[in-house]
Amino acid sequence: MPAGASRVVVGVTGATGAVYAVRLLERLRAAKCETHLVVTPAGVLNVHHELGLDREALEELADKAYSPADVGAAIASGSFSADAMVIAPCSMKTLAAVAHALSDNLLTRAADVALKERRRLLLMVRETPFNLAHLRNMVAVTEMGGIIFPPLPAFYHRPQSVDELVGDTIERVLGLIGVEGAVPQSWSGL
Ligand SMILES: Cc1cc2nc3c(=O)[nH]c(=O)nc-3n(C[C@H](O)[C@H](O)[C@H](O)COP(=O)(O)O)c2cc1C
Repeated sequence: MPAGASRVVVGVTGATGAVYAVRLLERLRAAKCETHLVVTPAGVLNVHHELGLDREALEELADKAYSPADVGAAIASGSFSADAMVIAPCSMKTLAAVAHALSDNLLTRAADVALKERRRLLLMVRETPFNLAHLRNMVAVTEMGGIIFPPLPAFYHRPQSVDELVGDTIERVLGLIGVEGAVPQSWSGL
């Protein structure tokens, strides 16, 4: 696991699970990580539908926010030294674009950069059930070094609320990208 991630690119797409984006940005801020955010149009739609937040409210949770059309932004270049990128949540469309290196918007370009620079890239993919194309795209991203992290909650810690489940999931993500102070639940045996 990499240690001490301090600058993280966050992508938000139109899969359900906007709450993961908000919790991730809040936790990264609490951990004093610098965040660079790009939200797709479908992501904006879902954040509003699921949480009642508009683009501006979401972007306020990040240090810097970019339009997905701004393919000339700093995070489009490998020379911008981000430690990791998380796509939370990640639609099957964006998964496909990452798997095939399409770089058709700033979010997918930033993911492409993370892979080519051999940086941590974690995709919180969300769909159910999966078709064969989804599964193949997940394999392709894994083969390139990306982490496929569907937000599948664990119940063995007997969570008392959805809030707790979401929080546990985000701590696991922070641990995987090397954010100091992440507190993923650990199993100490029956
Ligand atoms: C309410 C709602 C929920 C959706 N949930 C998902 C989902 O869980 N997974 C998914 O792959 N697409 C989902 N979609 C469809 C995506 O938003 C759509 O494929 C979109 O084109 C994705 O674009 P993006 O990856 O650029 O954000 C959902 C759409 C809506 C309106």
